[in-house]
Amino acid sequence: MAKATNITWHEAKVKKEDRRKLNGHGSAILWFTGLSGSGKSTLSVAVEHELHKRGIRTYILDGDNIRHGLNKNLGFSPEDRKENIRRIGEVSKLFVDAGIMVLTAFISPYQADRDMVRELVEGREFVEIYVKCPLEVCENRDPKGLYKKARSGEIKNFTGIDAPYEAPECPELVVDTNQQPLEDSVKQVIQYLEENDYIE
Ligand code: PPS
Repeated sequence: MAKATNITWHEAKVKKEDRRKLNGHGSAILWFTGLSGSGKSTLSVAVEHELHKRGIRTYILDGDNIRHGLNKNLGFSPEDRKENIRRIGEVSKLFVDAGIMVLTAFISPYQADRDMVRELVEGREFVEIYVKCPLEVCENRDPKGLYKKARSGEIKNFTGIDAPYEAPECPELVVDTNQQPLEDSVKQVIQYLEENDYIE
């Protein structure tokens, strides 16, 4: 595909800081990463609910949902996963610019792809949250029956089975969903956001 040329960046009068001021809180990407079945979606939904109750403007981008629309033309090859994460990163950046706390729930198995998103925004605007859970436990949970299909060969390139998952090297937060109930995981995330002045 040919790249566009002759394009110019237009500055808006209303800036990110103005939007944040109006909202009364900061904006950032809470990037949940982990294996299928690790609890990314469940945790991000619960954290969003808590933030919403505190009057914080939020939005969730979730793997399965985004793959129904924006990224419906992408599969699960390393190249497609990279493009999936790149687009999500760019969309998340727009949300940050809009002054919104965006929560993303994607497997995002490659460290380089997550780092690419980190580089897109300003330092503190990317919070990498590793939703940690052993493969055996995820496979046992198998909420969508996908591990079973992957083991039987019906699904190829399934993360953790015949495609890699690179655990975060230096995440801001590790949430062990196998070691604690959901309420504790939510508290852990909220506490991190409070202690690091993302929210009051
Ligand atoms: S990625 O790796 O970040 O691009 O994946 P993501 O966009 O988060 O999509 C993951 C969901 O797609 C379903 N699914 C698969 N996951 C992994 N590998 C393969 N081959 C695959 N095929 C379908 C699955 O429902 C994932 O959702 P979660 O919520 O993670 O279980």
